[in-house]
Amino acid sequence: MALFRSKTKESESDPVQLEGVSLRYGNSPDIFSDLSLTLPARSLHFLTGPSGAGKTSLLSLLYLANLPSNGQVRLFGHDVAKTSRAKRTTIRRQLGAVFQDFRLLDHMSVFDNVALPLRVTGTPETAVQENVSELLRWVGLEGLFDALPPVLSGGQKQRVAIARAVVTRPKLIIADEPTGNVDDAIAERLMQLFVELHKLGACVIVATHNERLVERFAFPRLHMERGVMSVLPAKSPSPSTGAQAG
Ligand SMILES: Nc1ncnc2c1ncn2[C@@H]1O[C@H](COP(=O)(O)OP(=O)(O)OP(=O)(O)O)[C@@H](O)[C@H]1O
Ligand SMILES: [Mg+2]
Repeated sequence: MALFRSKTKESESDPVQLEGVSLRYGNSPDIFSDLSLTLPARSLHFLTGPSGAGKTSLLSLLYLANLPSNGQVRLFGHDVAKTSRAKRTTIRRQLGAVFQDFRLLDHMSVFDNVALPLRVTGTPETAVQENVSELLRWVGLEGLFDALPPVLSGGQKQRVAIARAVVTRPKLIIADEPTGNVDDAIAERLMQLFVELHKLGACVIVATHNERLVERFAFPRLHMERGVMSVLPAKSPSPSTGAQAG
């Protein structure tokens, strides 16, 4: 499918670099502190840890919803605290995010929700039609192109959110519990989509509570617990990904 055609130009800087990063909300204690981590292009990591461990909080730094309380977050080599508004827009266009609460636009059809990131960047409508249709078929939503999000099941909404996140072939894909509402067969198919995009050069992070998925797909995991992150190797041999944490 068009989505899986190879792109030639790739960023030279690592998509994600954290140095001594801490995050707290208001006057509360740190959710995590002194976190250092580099995630290169062409990598896939699970992000695991108990509920409340700080997974979504960490991801919010990567999709630029929050700034660190301390330390430095660099995306594609740019310190996000120091970049101009214009640069942040450029960085955002290289990001694809699947939010835990989907964040679909309820007044727009499934097709138009997924097409939006392509249309805002001026993609020709023929390419929009081709890419969105193929992707929606891949995630098993053929027949629902014209549906509005409020009539969809949780798992269907989740698949729209995933399609929207990856339709521009972003270099950094941040997926927060992207398979939490679907059955095992669909979860594997969705995971396969992330694997294909990682093989084509994307840096992919998948936060999940699904242990079965982590075992089935042999990729390393970043595990957060009580404010500390450990990098755990894949359960069985997998493509090398090269994360470093400290
Ligand atoms: N906007 C916020 N303001 C204040 N505290 C917050 C905010 N967002 C998260 N927290 C707190 O930060 C901690 C980590 O929450 P976070 O949502 O990052 O956990 P999580 O690992 O994603 O959990 P889950 O697996 O349930 O999604 C929790 O104690 C939560 O109450
Ligand atoms: Mg979360």
